Amino acid sequence: MYMINFYANGRYHQLPLINGTFDKAIDISKLREYTKLITFDPGLKNTGITKSSISFIDGEKGELLYRGYPIEQIINKCSFIETSYLILNGELPNYKQLKYFIEKINSFNLIKDNICNYLDKIPNSYHPMGILSSITNILLSFDNSIKSEDSYFYLLSKLPILAAMIYRKKYGLPNINNEKNICYIYNILSMFFSIPNKPYKKNYYIINALEKLLILHIDHEQNCSTTIVRLLSSVRSNIFSSVSAGINALWGKLHGGANQKVIEMLELILKDGGNINKWIEKAKNRNDSFRLMGFGHRIYKNFDPRAIIAKSIAENLIKKLNISDPILDIAKKLEINALKDSYFLEKKLYPNIDFYSGIIYQAIGIPKDMFTVMFALGRLPGWIAHWIEIKDNLEPIGRPRQIYIGNKKRNI
Ligand code: ACO
Repeated sequence: MYMINFYANGRYHQLPLINGTFDKAIDISKLREYTKLITFDPGLKNTGITKSSISFIDGEKGELLYRGYPIEQIINKCSFIETSYLILNGELPNYKQLKYFIEKINSFNLIKDNICNYLDKIPNSYHPMGILSSITNILLSFDNSIKSEDSYFYLLSKLPILAAMIYRKKYGLPNINNEKNICYIYNILSMFFSIPNKPYKKNYYIINALEKLLILHIDHEQNCSTTIVRLLSSVRSNIFSSVSAGINALWGKLHGGANQKVIEMLELILKDGGNINKWIEKAKNRNDSFRLMGFGHRIYKNFDPRAIIAKSIAENLIKKLNISDPILDIAKKLEINALKDSYFLEKKLYPNIDFYSGIIYQAIGIPKDMFTVMFALGRLPGWIAHWIEIKDNLEPIGRPRQIYIGNKKRNI
């Protein structure tokens, strides 16, 4: 094992160097014991919080691997459900494994009346992400017979149904039943858009676009919502509460909630006359809180490979559906102009996955306030995989330290 040597408090100390598959890290867990010093890293920008083998990002090269496979290969060769299996189990499934996986998910597709009754009581004005996290958190209370080994399948089955129920209630559509034994993605679309006596008409281009977009969302190493799920797993919270917390974190507009904010921003720019440079200048102005939503990423300091794929999915879908979307035109112009600007180049701010995903959802017919819910459906297998990884590795509870800057000890 390699060590880092350093001198502090009158003597030499050694800290071990950890080798990951690609990264190296200094193990600072004994630093305080040796030196009374802790590390300071607001936003955890340079802190490896855990070891994980689920996904890997090379932010400098713009690469994303799922269990070692490049996202570009996954997108072209795997379905959402196969990729979910890969993320959860470490290897792609054979025919028998896939069949079992799908059957298990389908076996939990009934929604009990008590869940419908609970949903009915939540005002429609509340954001769908808040409703989804609330119901997910208490799913166990509606169905306390769920065995813990079934809870992953249960969530994969129930979350799309809940999403569809939330959408249908909010937009005044009657509830419909989930169907069994059909494609996971078609099933989502069918649950959203079928109306009594008029089942949702299969559209290959839409199914393919949603399938690919949700695959892009499945996992993304230690993003905020996944880290939250891992922290909850570390204190042995149940999977439902952990995923519920992940949904709340994803809702934040600097995280998954950005997909809704991007479209709202693009619509505003269009309404304002399409003067893109005016909005770029606003984003650059330190005294203005406006940021180009869908731009920038903590890890990608080159391009986000998911954004490149999402852009081509959006362009392709709009072409195949033969619709014209002025929002897509604004987005493309904004991207071109921003990427010519030294501010964005110097700060290495490129479009992220959320920049084009809303355009795809919009073309499919999904309303803006449901965009982040769709993201959550995509991210669910990743959250579950991370929750299991912490549980199986018996990781210690996640409990950071702080630099206290409050009052010294004093008397009342
Ligand atoms: N528009 C304008 N300026 C930006 C933007 C942006 N979108 N993003 C970052 N910057 C600037 C910051 O003002 C800061 O400038 P400074 O160094 O002069 O103070 C610098 O770039 C670094 O930004 P940070 O916020 O420190 O970078 P961080 O890595 O912490 O944040 C984040 C990354 C949150 C994604 C940020 O780029 C952002 O707010 N983007 C817009 C929201 C967004 O699209 N979120 C989705 C991210 S992807 C996902 O979660 C699925």
